[in-house]
Amino acid sequence: MTTHSNDQPFSAHSPVHSPVNPIAVVILAAGKGTRMKSDLHKVLHPIAGRPMLLHLIASAAALHPAKTVVVTGAGREQVEAAVAPLGIATALQAEQLGTGHAVAQARAALAGFEGDVLILYGDVPLVTATTMQRMIDRLHGDDTPAVVVLGFRPADPGAYGRVIADAAGRMDRIVEYKDASDAERAVTLCNSGLMAVRATDLFALLDRLGNDNAAGEYYLTDIVGLAGAAGRSAAVIETGADEVAGVNSRGELAGVEAAWQAERRARAMADGATLIAPDTVWFAHDTVLGRDVVIEPNVVFGPGARVEDGATIHAFSHVEGASVGKGANVGPFARLRPGADLHADAKVGNFVEVKKAVIGEGAKVSHLTYIGDADIGAGANIGAGTITCNYDGYFKYRTVVGEGAFIGSNSALVAPVTIGAGAIVAAGSVVTQDVEADALALVRPPQIAKPGWAARFREKMLARKRA
Ligand code: UD1
Ligand code: CA
Repeated sequence: MTTHSNDQPFSAHSPVHSPVNPIAVVILAAGKGTRMKSDLHKVLHPIAGRPMLLHLIASAAALHPAKTVVVTGAGREQVEAAVAPLGIATALQAEQLGTGHAVAQARAALAGFEGDVLILYGDVPLVTATTMQRMIDRLHGDDTPAVVVLGFRPADPGAYGRVIADAAGRMDRIVEYKDASDAERAVTLCNSGLMAVRATDLFALLDRLGNDNAAGEYYLTDIVGLAGAAGRSAAVIETGADEVAGVNSRGELAGVEAAWQAERRARAMADGATLIAPDTVWFAHDTVLGRDVVIEPNVVFGPGARVEDGATIHAFSHVEGASVGKGANVGPFARLRPGADLHADAKVGNFVEVKKAVIGEGAKVSHLTYIGDADIGAGANIGAGTITCNYDGYFKYRTVVGEGAFIGSNSALVAPVTIGAGAIVAAGSVVTQDVEADALALVRPPQIAKPGWAARFREKMLARKRA
């Protein structure tokens, strides 16, 4: 059975579908987001460390849209700045006169475009590319609907628009909650707001929208009824409520974050990572995990983290902008900051912070250490409490530790400084000059021993106290 029809276009206005029909994506983001109580635009609040709008754009990118237009209004400068690097166009909706009016603002940006338009909401960020594709595919179903609406059945239908459709998903209209009768409010199928419409149909239908309704707005949803009045059909397809969860408040933001994390944890495990307590692990949008990675409880990934096969991240570690090589061992209680690059089998232990530094193959930084702006050679051993002094308050400097070098505990390596391969730095040293390969650097006052001094001291003090 074919799901596409290219022999019986429903109307002369409908372009003949081909499997490579171009797609344009229109993302509505003109709403004020008042309930967020934020100086940051609602659609730029991050989910898994990335603005929610960019999640949506990334998902839509899988459909290879010919054009993406973000409709902006309040706070447009922030949104424009966020999408400009992606080469994405914006269209201004100066006044928020409703969702239909918002989509109409994309008309100029889509001038000459004759493919399919996918309408998304910037504050509904978790919609998958698969669902978007299902909407497009349904638009090219044998009955050639003019409009495809993405519907869902929330636990509490609340104030969502209700989809008035028959059992086969043929829609009559969408009625907004404010305008609905009691019988219509009892309908459980709700409008997510997302739609697919051919460009030629879309702008013809939008031209006919009025605002004679309870909100005095130009409702995008009215194009369903208008299509019907013009003898065209409209179809609804359903998806799960989690996927179309919208963000209007900080509480909903946290809910969407939780849903994203739950999905990501499941995928991590399905792909061959062990998560001992999945609910306590937090991923970023771009975390990359190899096979047989073990992640202990309470690990948090910031953006830009990569963990290769067989590595273990022990409990309570924070990993951001860092690469963890094959078989490497991190934590517990470790912090890998941007530019940390652990080669295979390296070890970074508890209360160790690493920033912009290579930890060579098999090198060990086991306890209570700061390694920043450094190259630690393969097999080197960095003793407990070692600090690379990389900053003088103005500039940053590098520390180089050669292969197999041994840095004694509680040493300060004052950069720029190089410790040669195989060298030993004595514990407690403050190293300010380069150390030759295989040399010993001992930078501390010589030890003075006074036999019996402590006992004599105690006797004298006790006598004074008794007197
Ligand atoms: C809309 C739908 C409703 C659906 C609900 C799902 C209409 C008329 N109603 O209602 O059926 O159940 O979404 O959440 O479409 N926006 C603009 N410009 C505007 C108005 C809105 O860009 O002038 C954007 C908002 O930023 C938001 C989206 O459109 O991203 C939806 O707007 P919102 O006001 O939340 O729509 P609802 O009234 O909730
Ligand atoms: Ca909303």
